[in-house]
Amino acid sequence: MTQYPLLTPEEAASIINHNDMVAFSGFTAAGSPKVIPLALAQRATALHEKGEDFAIRLMTGASVGAQVDDALAAAKCVSWRAPYQSASGMRKAINNNEVEFVDMHLGEVAQMLRAGFFGEIEAAVIEAVDVTPDGRVFLTSGIGNSPTFLERAKKIIIERNSYFSSRITEFADNVTLPNPPKRPVIPLYGTMDKIGKPYVQIDPAKIIGIVETHQADQIEAFTKNDETSVLIAHHVETFLLKELKAGRIPKDFLPIQSGVGNINNAVMDTLGKNPDIPKFTMFSEVLQESVVDLILEGKVTGISASSLTITPGKLQTIFDNMDFFSDKIVLRPQEISNNPELIRRLGVIALNVGLEFDIYGHANSSHVLGSDLMNGIGGSGDFERNAYLSVFMAPSTAKGGKISSIVPMCTHVDHSEHSVKVIITEQGIADLRGLSPSQRAHSIIENCVHPMYKEVLYQYLSSCKPGHIAHDLHHAFDMHVKFLETGCML
Ligand code: COA
Repeated sequence: MTQYPLLTPEEAASIINHNDMVAFSGFTAAGSPKVIPLALAQRATALHEKGEDFAIRLMTGASVGAQVDDALAAAKCVSWRAPYQSASGMRKAINNNEVEFVDMHLGEVAQMLRAGFFGEIEAAVIEAVDVTPDGRVFLTSGIGNSPTFLERAKKIIIERNSYFSSRITEFADNVTLPNPPKRPVIPLYGTMDKIGKPYVQIDPAKIIGIVETHQADQIEAFTKNDETSVLIAHHVETFLLKELKAGRIPKDFLPIQSGVGNINNAVMDTLGKNPDIPKFTMFSEVLQESVVDLILEGKVTGISASSLTITPGKLQTIFDNMDFFSDKIVLRPQEISNNPELIRRLGVIALNVGLEFDIYGHANSSHVLGSDLMNGIGGSGDFERNAYLSVFMAPSTAKGGKISSIVPMCTHVDHSEHSVKVIITEQGIADLRGLSPSQRAHSIIENCVHPMYKEVLYQYLSSCKPGHIAHDLHHAFDMHVKFLETGCML
């Protein structure tokens, strides 16, 4: 039986070397390490001041706490980063090419790591509620890629966070998959099935030490539902009710996946309040704020996710009612929560927000004007490509109307016209199923485009060289160029 040494954050940071691939636990700010990354940033600054090189290659589940990513970026402590981020400082460093960033489907990361596509993981910094002397690691509010990080990393440092109720481990269903071709079917036949263990078993000899912490996840509340989000939410509700009535969604409904953000929060609120939408389960990557109340009200009967991305107040509601919540939440590794086979087999309805769409239904979730990274593709591709119904939502304009979210040609494509089935803006619904490119263009312009941009898009369409997907390559990016030159697409 191993007794692990207790370390200060600085001692833990000193174990990490220049150019090491380092993995952080968690999924979003949920479950990500709190103190060692900040000590690592300080170590980088001190070494840089002495003229020494120091930067790590950083792999995470999804984003981590914004404070962590921003501190690391400010200290120039990261040379390479994957697979997702959402912090303003890190974003800026990536867009300035100070950090090499690899934007990846979140469900695919664990397999690629196991296959050795990115080299060895030298060290993993993992937040846990506890670790036993025989090497059982009990994770906190975000599972992410931690089971794979724990399995693959040569050295492990645990941040033992006493903030979390030890009962949080009742949600966990940890499992890792063998690499192809000898992988059996994942035996998960219902949203809430459990197929793994509440802990991750590792060789205790890999654990270098423990740093004690007592800190909540840094997750902020959403702003109150704004008018545009509410309009979009009502269109989603209308669309799903129509599908239900037509029998294209079964009477007992299908599992829902919902991204995070104000629009998704408004959508979940709206679906929750509608008595004609039956009780449903969720097969998602994050459990977001509004879903806690929907579980309490009995509208959501259970949710499978990779993290509890909720404010400390909502987390406390869960801890105060653990007997009730215990069998209604399952937290899974992201290779299971975002698994394409499961998403397709369970018939998930995917509801995600994009930045930009073109008149044929291609979607850009990640790069503003084709160049600047916003956050990354995240899990949107895992879900939208494999869902039973792939719905994309967005306000029809951005920046006070100066940008149309719908353009002749996307400047960057994350999701192709083959995956995107429905687009919804506050203007209305474009149901693209069964439509040819030309029909799709008319449906999107007519139903989703803001009135002030309709004419310019119809004009573009009429000026195109005919073809199965009609385009005019001399003018496909005129709206973007106009925005760059004048600050407005009109
Ligand atoms: N061109 C340029 N900028 C645009 C734009 C466009 N077409 N559409 C939106 N923006 C800007 C907004 O103005 C805003 O900028 P600001 O913060 O400077 O005002 C920013 O993009 C974010 O837009 P916002 O309306 O606040 O949207 P959001 O918080 O709902 O985020 C995404 C939208 C697309 C960035 C976000 O959903 C995302 O990162 N998606 C990819 C990952 C994903 O889908 N995850 C969930 C999946 S499982």
